[in-house]
Amino acid sequence: MSPADRSLTVTIDGPAASGKSSTARMVAEALGARHLDSGALYRGVTAARLRTGGDPDQWTEQSVLEAAARVTLAPGATTFAARVDGAACEEELRGDAVTALVSLVAKMPHVRRWVNRTLQATAAAHAVVADGRDMGTTVFPDATLKVWLVAIASERARRRVLQRTGRPPTSAELTSETAELEARDRKDSEQTRPAADAVWLDTSGITQAEQVAQVVAWVRDRERERRKP
Ligand code: DC
Repeated sequence: MSPADRSLTVTIDGPAASGKSSTARMVAEALGARHLDSGALYRGVTAARLRTGGDPDQWTEQSVLEAAARVTLAPGATTFAARVDGAACEEELRGDAVTALVSLVAKMPHVRRWVNRTLQATAAAHAVVADGRDMGTTVFPDATLKVWLVAIASERARRRVLQRTGRPPTSAELTSETAELEARDRKDSEQTRPAADAVWLDTSGITQAEQVAQVVAWVRDRERERRKP
């Protein structure tokens, strides 16, 4: 796909495990844009702060902001990778230690401001499909298209177990995974909101390919509307 106009900004928001990241990555590929994963930036800041050490209960916002200065976004062919201390560290970013503390870091207002400014500076120079919680509401209020992904918690839990184990969940796994996701939804609820002008996409009964095709079709519609005299 040829590179998209760098003014293109698509936002995909929704709760944990709603398929934001994989949808955003595939939509970016289809459009010739890059996937901008805002959660990865919060995870990068958390990993950088963890590397500094100390009891997380005593982390000050200032110390987390100092750690953020060691986090960068490196453009790849279709994504941006969050780097900590100059190196990619995907496994660390997705690991349990970071996952357990990232909600705490994402609640800090100055950290949110730093993340948002970093995302905005990146999108000013590239066509992006940004995914997260508040991309359409706070970070990119003028986006070309805003999508709000929804799926019931038990469906998100089923997909998550399938992704992790390669098989459908047992009923006990489904119960505990659903409870875990609902707890995470509560932790992140403050910043997880649909924009008033977002289009809602319920992914419960459709395949990933259908989701991606739907979002790409909406983007094309918006671009056609914008070109109209
Ligand atoms: O989507 P994720 O699991 O990688 O997100 C990691 C954490 O960052 C999660 O606690 C939600 C938070 N987050 C946020 O508050 N705002 C965003 N735009 C993206 C993620």
